[in-house]
Amino acid sequence: MPIFFDSENKIFKLDTKTSSYIFQVFEENYLIHLYYGAYIPDNGVESLAMRNCNASFSPANAAIGEHGFSVDSWPMEYSCNGTGDMRISALAIRNHCGNASTDVRYVSHRIFKGKPALEGLPSLYTMSDDDATTLEVETLDKITGAKVYLLYTVFENYGAMTRSVRVENSSDEPMDIQRVYSACVEFPTMDYNMMHLYGMWCKERTLTSRHLAHGIQSVHSKRGSSSHTHNPFVALARDDATEDFGEAYGFNLVYSGNFAADIEVDFNSSARLIMGINPTDFCWRLDPGESFTAPELVMVYSSEGIGEMSRIFHRLYNNHLIRGEWKTKKRPLLINSWEAAYFDFDDDKLVAFAERAKELGIEMLVMDDGWFGVRNDDRRSLGDWYVNENKLKGGLSSLIERVNALGLKFGIWYEPEMISPDSDLYRAHPDWCLQVPGREKSIGRNQYILDMSRKDVRDNIYEQMASVLRNNKIDYVKWDFNRNLTEVGSALLPPERQQEVFHRFVLGTYELMGRIVNDFPHILLENCSGGGGRFDPGMLCFSPQIWCSDNTDPIERLTIQFGTSMCYPVSTVGAHVSANSRTGYETKGNVAMSGTFGYELDPIKLTEEELRIVKRQVRDYHKYYDVIHYGDLYRLIAPTENSHRCAWGYVSQDKSEALFTFVTMLRCQNSQFYVRLKGLDPDKYYLDDETDEIHSGALLMNAGLNLKNRPCRDGSSYMIYLKEVKN
Ligand code: DGJ
Repeated sequence: MPIFFDSENKIFKLDTKTSSYIFQVFEENYLIHLYYGAYIPDNGVESLAMRNCNASFSPANAAIGEHGFSVDSWPMEYSCNGTGDMRISALAIRNHCGNASTDVRYVSHRIFKGKPALEGLPSLYTMSDDDATTLEVETLDKITGAKVYLLYTVFENYGAMTRSVRVENSSDEPMDIQRVYSACVEFPTMDYNMMHLYGMWCKERTLTSRHLAHGIQSVHSKRGSSSHTHNPFVALARDDATEDFGEAYGFNLVYSGNFAADIEVDFNSSARLIMGINPTDFCWRLDPGESFTAPELVMVYSSEGIGEMSRIFHRLYNNHLIRGEWKTKKRPLLINSWEAAYFDFDDDKLVAFAERAKELGIEMLVMDDGWFGVRNDDRRSLGDWYVNENKLKGGLSSLIERVNALGLKFGIWYEPEMISPDSDLYRAHPDWCLQVPGREKSIGRNQYILDMSRKDVRDNIYEQMASVLRNNKIDYVKWDFNRNLTEVGSALLPPERQQEVFHRFVLGTYELMGRIVNDFPHILLENCSGGGGRFDPGMLCFSPQIWCSDNTDPIERLTIQFGTSMCYPVSTVGAHVSANSRTGYETKGNVAMSGTFGYELDPIKLTEEELRIVKRQVRDYHKYYDVIHYGDLYRLIAPTENSHRCAWGYVSQDKSEALFTFVTMLRCQNSQFYVRLKGLDPDKYYLDDETDEIHSGALLMNAGLNLKNRPCRDGSSYMIYLKEVKN
């Protein structure tokens, strides 16, 4: 059983094949943390509990203080506010007396096979109860009647577990949750680098790393979405960890709103990580009998470096996060109208795109922004989701029929959570957007934000979308989201619930997205937020792919896709070849191939030479689809400021084929000629189908691939496909 309870010593041990996570019910029913790291087989681990350290004036529980125990200096399993633990706390509940002192202690637990879904929230899932085992620990704050359930699900085969927390009000008085992080994780030392993904529009998920220091280090979003600025991902990599060796712990929150990841290194040089909903502008009123569920945190442990941490995330997400018909179905190779036409299109222009796309072997036309209301620029019509028949003469069905007649599927763009001040919807319902009394509403890309916490608002948008989706043969929807939340208030909620709106907005979006996905299961949903401003595991529960960035320059994309690959699998990464770049079509295609692949350009303007390259890319897309999408990623050279090249590859599960991509970002005189490959079978022999050379996996991984005659001018690139040959 992956979850074991030693009833004598009251110790929980949660094992995967490669990791162990251990905590204990200590005296007075305090939950103390004992260990998280590489798998250890022992059942007798009670000696780990002896941690006697002196802090500065650390308060003690009168009953057990003489044992050296203090919640301020021992590693706590779920840290509480205001009752002695002066470090960052995961939980703070203001009770009816007005104070937020909180103290939850163990009451009972149950262990069961499988994994429950989280109410109203996206989460990982199992296909069968054998895929995972769950531990639910019931704790209680005796004074306030807050029951807090700590949930742990172990995915034994993945080196991964998930965490969540549910708070129930079992008292007769209302209480206010001021903070409820999804997990608290303790590390006895501070010899870690904190890795995270920062960015902005066109520069999303850039990897950065810094050493832990005494004090608090944090990554937050309070933009109302997971955001371009910081992704809800952090990793702690041991000082000596590299891509291929050493310990790395990855944390990724399944949530699309305001999040916080805080790490405090204390006086004792131990580190505590808490991660969950950002407590800024958050306060949730819990009436008697009500409960609140915190989003799920995914925790991955690797003892084989940062690369293996990423591969565990990828396998886990491909199998237990991505869902629906498109989970394993091959994604259509698409062409999107945005960079080809922006708002300037009509039915004939789109059909002309489709005709040329068909000749090239492209499988789907996506009509982006501009098809509805009077949307001839970005100043109007969001919320008016009816077809502009001045542009699409003959209507949407007629356009789709013409596109389908060519043999192409058809996709459409929406931005369901937004409303333009210049729209029929806003004129009819000015109270439907987020707002606070008396304050002017900030404008972002000329638009306001709908109050997604309101059911009437969601129902209206659902009906508008559903009538288009029901009455037309639509295969794909791009769901965009182009601004951050401001003046976050709802006209319907009472004052004591206004700080719930940030979270209610996210829940409302999930509800609407869930309805669309459930009612139209054949539709491939691609999320987007001004590029990749909402690229998170919460969104991936609804859309198996997310537009990674509006930046389609292949050299700049290297950094974005490299950072994204830290925890998100290639199958989720929306990547297109566009016309807008100084780099040639070869490299555009080679980089976009490490994604869902498609085009974002006017195909009629392509030159003969470009058409030839595109046709080859379409063939390559099909040839390499399986190894890229079902293989394991190995990062070879990171696109850092000091490297002239970037390289990575995919190796099939049975190691019989592999595809490696090399990009020269900047030529240098002493170019490196040997690159050591990874992930191959040392005992297999591989044919390089370009050069016809045959080498063993051992040679390719130890001596390396000799790249001396390959292109190395700035911006050049190539892919090397290796196939096993039997002697
Ligand atoms: C932002 C997206 O990232 C683009 O791809 C495009 O869909 C525009 N929005 C349309 O307004």
